[in-house]
Amino acid sequence: MTDKINELLRRVEEFKPKAASDIEEFRIRILGKKGELNALMEEFKTVAPELKRELGQQLNRLKNEATARINALREEWRNAADEQAPADEDLTRPGSAEHLGSRHPISLVKNQIVEVFSRLGYTVAEGPEIEDDWHVFSALNFPPEHPARDMQDTFFIEKNPDILLRTHTSSIQVRTMERQKPPIRVICPGRVFRNEAISYRAHCIFHQIEGLYIDEGVSFADMKQSLLYFAKEVFGEQTRIRMRPSYFPFTEPSAEVDVSCNLCGGKGCAVCKGTGWLEIMGCGMVDPNVLKANDIDPEKYSGFAFGMGVERIAMLKYGVKDLRLYFENDVRFLHQFDEAL
Ligand code: DAH
Repeated sequence: MTDKINELLRRVEEFKPKAASDIEEFRIRILGKKGELNALMEEFKTVAPELKRELGQQLNRLKNEATARINALREEWRNAADEQAPADEDLTRPGSAEHLGSRHPISLVKNQIVEVFSRLGYTVAEGPEIEDDWHVFSALNFPPEHPARDMQDTFFIEKNPDILLRTHTSSIQVRTMERQKPPIRVICPGRVFRNEAISYRAHCIFHQIEGLYIDEGVSFADMKQSLLYFAKEVFGEQTRIRMRPSYFPFTEPSAEVDVSCNLCGGKGCAVCKGTGWLEIMGCGMVDPNVLKANDIDPEKYSGFAFGMGVERIAMLKYGVKDLRLYFENDVRFLHQFDEAL
């Protein structure tokens, strides 16, 4: 019987599974109810009493070693399975794609505008969304009774002294002039806030991009050429611009800029309401009062400024008719824009 026990011990030690299922088969064959160990136990019952002590110890050792070996093998194969693909997995199958988010259309358009102006030498400037009266109105030549200062248009946080949510990114012009002396060439993207009813064409929170260029001898013609370049880059090479006289407290003269309608090519359609033109921004030569308020000598320096709504540019560029879509965060809408993905 000792021989049989030793033989089984040797097989246990030398057992090398080829697959994880071999281990379980081996366990059943050796340690199972009808397995070889139990057969030896049966035989043990019949041996002479004087041999029982010695053989009992040998059988115990066999049982312990077989159990330990099987447990160790199971552990080894479980770790290997974690690292290795199971043998029946098809490694040539294409991987499952990770669903990436896409960039928001407002960010895409904002980035494009910033990029176009950075090619003209503009750098990005930023400013706070919570502002005071000076940076949003007074330093920009708004008279005290101007309607934009009204509660109807502006969200005030505190009165006297006035703390408010900026209604336009023109406040960043002022912050830039405080920090920097000419030449100044900045592009200022940011969120702005207005007390407006939400509709297909207006929202109480939206995005603007402001531009400011101040140096010696900057002219209206420089402004027109820069804005034409911008319009062609964003709306296409065939785009034309026109300027209509307008009024802003901080520029003189001021103009409204239209681009030729990119949908009908200027012939007139529903989007441009038959005019062939779409309004895209306000602009003008920086008012000497604004330069003075910011300690810049208007005799020496001149400049131009412009400001546009990013949602408006994005609506015109993509033919989106309802501005609210940009705020609803419906991924089916948002996924359509990011060509990079
Ligand atoms: N701040 C103006 C607005 O919110 C936009 C604007 C117009 C900015 C003319 C300018 C400018 O810098 O010159 O409607």
